[in-house]
Amino acid sequence: MNLAGKNVVYLGGFGGIGEKTCNEILEHRLQALAIFDLTLNEKILTQWQLKYPNTKIFYQKVDITEKSQIEEAYKVAKERLGHFDLVINGMGFLDDRRIVLTLQINLLGVINSCLIALEHMDKSKGGRGGMIVNISSVAGIEPTPIMSVYSASKHGVTAFTRCLAGPFFASSGVSFVTVCPGMTATTLINNMEDRTIYKFDIPPELDANKMKRQSVQVCAKNIVKVVQQAKNGSAWLLDVGELKEIEFPVMWIPPMDS
Ligand SMILES: NC(=O)c1ccc[n+]([C@@H]2O[C@H](COP(=O)([O-])OP(=O)(O)OC[C@H]3O[C@@H](n4cnc5c(N)ncnc54)[C@H](O)[C@@H]3O)[C@@H](O)[C@H]2O)c1
Repeated sequence: MNLAGKNVVYLGGFGGIGEKTCNEILEHRLQALAIFDLTLNEKILTQWQLKYPNTKIFYQKVDITEKSQIEEAYKVAKERLGHFDLVINGMGFLDDRRIVLTLQINLLGVINSCLIALEHMDKSKGGRGGMIVNISSVAGIEPTPIMSVYSASKHGVTAFTRCLAGPFFASSGVSFVTVCPGMTATTLINNMEDRTIYKFDIPPELDANKMKRQSVQVCAKNIVKVVQQAKNGSAWLLDVGELKEIEFPVMWIPPMDS
């Protein structure tokens, strides 16, 4: 997608990866950027508004665990912008001791946000199509025992995004893309020992505190590269500064009654 002149909605835009990705996206002469997030970061918002006076930039409060707030935010964005071309579901949460909240934010939040955004974007319902990018994780493509609840939630995001890219939404004109960052230097992954359900000693090869972390800046630049080139259904690994399309093995083809 060529970002120039586009209307973008970024969920979690004031987070570590979100802020840096919005910095990058804004360099592409957007028409508008709507930030949906739990809390407003007034300083960042004002900086963006001053630096990019030709882009309409605004904040809409959303607690992603509340479906009614997601519906309201998209309704307001639609009223203010007329349409949106790109939605990035970039909110997230990591504390495996809070199982319900992890699933509510990481999985249910993404599902609800996608389905509500689709109501506005679906060409077969009068929308203009576009792209929905869901931020999963390397933990959403490989079992990641140190963060097993998070890993389960992110596997759900990967699967759901790839499902939406299948034939049932083909007439929507919306493409669905999965982004899987590796460990990235934000506060999300600080003090991993306090975010795990395990009480025993963590073997060194599973110790997330010892895993290489890429810079947020590089991850953000690669997210923008994905947006610019991704095809419907594609999934992308963004790890230690590199960007690679993921090829999934086919594990099952449904046997059919003849
Ligand atoms: N940092 C990493 O190593 C890493 C690796 C892979 C994937 N990711 C994913 O990237 C995305 C961004 O992560 P990050 O590292 O920038 O984390 P972060 O904690 O810096 O940002 C998380 C964002 O989610 C928002 N959020 C949290 N709870 C919310 C709620 N209830 N309602 C609305 N918004 C809420 C926060 O306000 C924040 O803007 C997440 O989906 C995360 O799972 C991060």
